[in-house]
Amino acid sequence: MTDERLDPPLSTPTYAVRAPLVRWLAAEAARAATELGAYRLLDVGCGEMPYLDLFEPHTQEIVGLDTWDNPRASLRGPIEAIPAPDASFDVVLCAQVLEHVDDPAQGVRELGRVTRPGGRVLLSTHGTFVYHPNPVDLWRWTGAGLGRLFSENGEWASVTVSAGSGTASSLAMLNAIYLEHVLRRTPLRPLRGALVSGLNRAARALDRRFELLRDERPGTLAANYHVVADRAA
Ligand SMILES: C[S@@+](CC[C@H](N)C(=O)[O-])C[C@H]1O[C@@H](n2cnc3c(N)ncnc32)[C@H](O)[C@@H]1O
Repeated sequence: MTDERLDPPLSTPTYAVRAPLVRWLAAEAARAATELGAYRLLDVGCGEMPYLDLFEPHTQEIVGLDTWDNPRASLRGPIEAIPAPDASFDVVLCAQVLEHVDDPAQGVRELGRVTRPGGRVLLSTHGTFVYHPNPVDLWRWTGAGLGRLFSENGEWASVTVSAGSGTASSLAMLNAIYLEHVLRRTPLRPLRGALVSGLNRAARALDRRFELLRDERPGTLAANYHVVADRAA
């Protein structure tokens, strides 16, 4: 686990996704322990399991699932057919995976199926982001669309969708990604960290100052969304 994933610096072009995601997961990892006790966690599409350190203090067991021969994953298969019994996990994490799956509705039904009644799904996925196949990149959402995807696919007591960052930060991220690419190829290369940091810092200040840049309303933009879905008891 690299420190940058758990504490992304402002010079990270994707700061608007990474920093709020880590803060949210840290808070949710602890909240789940308070509400559910030490829990069994399934990490769907676990990749390198970058958030392991956030969950480990609160869990009895962490099981990874991935579609390939990933040494971090003890289960192998797609989100659309999770190889685990019904209601076998207290908390199911699915971070930055849904945009890559063939059938998101079936994926959400499966997340609900393997979560025990009264348990919780924590999912994040992109609103606006650059194309990034892993191995494919198929979908983007709005907050309203993600809410509907969950409510139509599973027995949920509640579904909460929130934007990870506001409009200014999301726009800054898109600009920073290309700025970084361009500067890397020029003599201004040593300045790129400072420039991206400045852009991200200014955007974060704007989002904090203006509420209309934060809430989902016509004209806004969100790089990433966080979903908390509690399974009906
Ligand atoms: C962008 S990575 C995210 C990895 C990790 N969750 C994280 O937050 O760093 C996407 C992951 O989803 C996995 N993946 C892609 N399609 C999948 C599917 N249909 N079912 C389950 N996992 C899938 C990929 O193998 C990869 O590990």
